[in-house]
Amino acid sequence: MCFRSLSALVLVLAACSHVSQAVLPIVMWHGMGDSCCNPLSMGSIKKAFESALPGVYVRSLEIGDSVVKDTENGFLMNANDQITQVCAKLKQDPKLADGFNAIGFSQGGQFLRAVAQRCPEPQMHNLVSVGGQHQGVYGFPRCPGANSTLCEIMRKLLDVGAYVSFVQDHLVQAEYWQDPFHYDEYVEKNVFLADINNEKTYNAAYKTNLQKLSNLVLVRFMRDTMVQPSISEWFGFYKPNSDKETVSMKDTRVYQKDLLGLQEMEAAGKIHFLASDSDHLQMNQTFFEEQIMPWFK
Ligand SMILES: *[C@@H]1O[C@H](CO)[C@@H](O)[C@H](O)[C@H]1NC(C)=O
Ligand SMILES: *[C@@H]1O[C@H](CO)[C@@H](O)[C@H](O)[C@H]1NC(C)=O
Repeated sequence: MCFRSLSALVLVLAACSHVSQAVLPIVMWHGMGDSCCNPLSMGSIKKAFESALPGVYVRSLEIGDSVVKDTENGFLMNANDQITQVCAKLKQDPKLADGFNAIGFSQGGQFLRAVAQRCPEPQMHNLVSVGGQHQGVYGFPRCPGANSTLCEIMRKLLDVGAYVSFVQDHLVQAEYWQDPFHYDEYVEKNVFLADINNEKTYNAAYKTNLQKLSNLVLVRFMRDTMVQPSISEWFGFYKPNSDKETVSMKDTRVYQKDLLGLQEMEAAGKIHFLASDSDHLQMNQTFFEEQIMPWFK
């Protein structure tokens, strides 16, 4: 640094405070079958942020107290409890006190949206959802992640029935299961998605808090073989009573009834739809650098 007089010092301080405010910390939430710290996934993305944005604080969320637990919790820990745990972690982290940007992968996308809606402090600014299922799923044609044991458990429990209360309370994937043929049952029995989408009991704070985001960036994988339907990644879903025809965000109930303020956010230019021409989470480096990184600069 190079200040030689008080006025120069003031200028430098002004410049410094500008610089230090320019890059917000980043919070990451991994997807199902993954963990906070896998060097091949979240670990490498954390490193990419750190090298592109020198000095940035990146927190990759670990749910539970070990990597093994973290992976297991992605299947078996009630999503509402996960969100409560994350809200507490974010609040207790002094480095996040002045706000942060967030990036969620797969189910981490809708979970971070739930964090924005339920826990407005500290403030989340940009939320980038990479393959998140904002209207849920109706089918898991393929299971991600290396652990086939957990995958088997998930399939068996979904066979028992996504809306059976034991399954709802214990299987994360059932908690964002939406059966387009049984909307009323979904609203009644789903313990997570129907709530954060304001379809159960209307919670005005969800709408107010979501609109505090500066940007909601929705990345969809156009050749996704894991998420059905992949348009859920853009807040669309199946048409009522169909598992073939889909509708875009604007034709869903959540949008039409303005349950979350998506109409206002769209009018304000806050919702962004990005497409990766690949399978689930398989974005290439160019896409990451050119389409995702700018939201964190
Ligand atoms: C898969 O998950 C199960 C249940 O959490 C665990 O016991 C097992 O060690 C895991 N296997 C691998 C290869 O990580
Ligand atoms: C990277 O992904 C983008 C978006 O899917 C695609 O348009 C582009 O062709 C890909 N680039 C390479 C080098 O594969």
